[in-house]
Amino acid sequence: MQHGMNLAGLMICVLTAQGRLHPSQPATPLVSQGETGYPQEIESIVNARCLSCHAGATGGGGLVLNTWEHLMAGSSYGEAVIPFDADNSLLLEMATKLAGGPHPRELGGEMLTDRELAILRRWIADGARSSTGEVPFAEASQRLLVGSQDEALVSVIDMESNVVIHTIDLQELGFSATAKPHHIATEPDGSFFYVSLIADGKVLKFNSAYELVGQADFETPGMMALHPTEDLLYVGRSMAAVNPPMRIGEIRRSDMEIDEIDVFFPRPHAIAVEPHGAYAYTASLAENQVVTVNTDTREAQFTAIDGPTHTFVQFAISPDGNTMVAATQLTGKILVFDIGSSPIATLVDSIAVNAAPWHPAFSPDGRYVYVGNKNANTVTAVDMTTRSVAAVIEGRGLAQPHGLAVSPDGRYLYVSNNNLRGEYTPRYDLGDNELSGTVTVINTSTYTIEKVIEVERYASGVATLITN
Ligand code: HEC
Repeated sequence: MQHGMNLAGLMICVLTAQGRLHPSQPATPLVSQGETGYPQEIESIVNARCLSCHAGATGGGGLVLNTWEHLMAGSSYGEAVIPFDADNSLLLEMATKLAGGPHPRELGGEMLTDRELAILRRWIADGARSSTGEVPFAEASQRLLVGSQDEALVSVIDMESNVVIHTIDLQELGFSATAKPHHIATEPDGSFFYVSLIADGKVLKFNSAYELVGQADFETPGMMALHPTEDLLYVGRSMAAVNPPMRIGEIRRSDMEIDEIDVFFPRPHAIAVEPHGAYAYTASLAENQVVTVNTDTREAQFTAIDGPTHTFVQFAISPDGNTMVAATQLTGKILVFDIGSSPIATLVDSIAVNAAPWHPAFSPDGRYVYVGNKNANTVTAVDMTTRSVAAVIEGRGLAQPHGLAVSPDGRYLYVSNNNLRGEYTPRYDLGDNELSGTVTVINTSTYTIEKVIEVERYASGVATLITN
């Protein structure tokens, strides 16, 4: 039997939530539970209200609702449901807030009743579980974490299906609506991750089940970098801080005890630790200074850089530890430093990219550096063997690119976009989403944009969380 027919059969025999058979429907035997994977109450609603358009391969908007797994896979654009987050689930947003009428009434379909909406809302808020109680994506092992600076949220994307699978609402955890989650750093084994809150002045520690397990106080934290062998996390200061203390933070990850290290220059922002952990690097937003800090003795050595004020946004260090690059906001460059012959950063090259390069990242093989250009809405791939631009990527979804993470296999770039100027228009007008952030997924072998994932406002720092 075909899937569609199967469901048509289902439609005439479902029980209502009260356990009565719908009066207009003949009393045929129930199709066994679990065939669609939906809990029965949800199955009834989907059958009655959605399947006339969302069944089969050409489901409305590319969204097939035949089974729970189909619903959870979302459309080719993204997820319809975010487990545990009814408010940000497109399915409910469209059914309540869509400009032009709640979905599917705008297409001539029948509107969901308040009772049906309440059932769907409660189901999603409880985790959108299957009929057997399975939480969707509970097994996801390659996750991308994305801070949403204007919503006090962290979104979690499954990197295999590229849909949002969870949101961490910082307000529910007692932080302010303006906490401003900025950057994210993750343990290499995926056991924990850290989120800097610029405005709440905290660095939070979460476990991989999204439970808050620790926190440290630090004024206007920004970028973070883990020590590769010791139990330490280094933290710089946010760009939002005009005159922060001239110190970086050193947090003991196990208990989140924090200490501060003098770096003697204003506005230390960019931060990185080389792969052996012997040296950490930071740079000033206000002066052309890079500092090399011995992580053992805390001795700081300065490298002054010529030219107009660069404003170093962030560093990336090559996997072999020999090269460090810095993206410079005001001069639009990738500066290349030798840190292999001597640990003290020495400027060796400068590569022009587009306006306001932001968070650079190396490919896993060290050959390329990728960076989003915030004021040009492009992503640049720099070939480090020739020290020249290999590609400039532009297209839908790139709207003030900010954070950048490379998939572990090097095949995809995940670029977060602030979209504070509304240069990306979300595909549905929900009245309040014109400034949605995005995560643009770019194929590194073709340099094409494969997907634009809509997330919450002011998408900022990103990091991969890989567990086994
Ligand atoms: C009358 C046909 C029709 C009905 C009934 C219908 N839909 Fe849709 N749906 C569509 C079409 C067509 C689209 C594509 C967007 C558009 O054209 O507005 C869509 C889009 C969507 C999307 C967005 C998919 C995406 O990622 O772009 C969601 C979510 C959705 N529908 C959920 C539902 C749910 C849940 C129901 C049942 C309560 C339902 N729809 C009932 C026709 C329908």
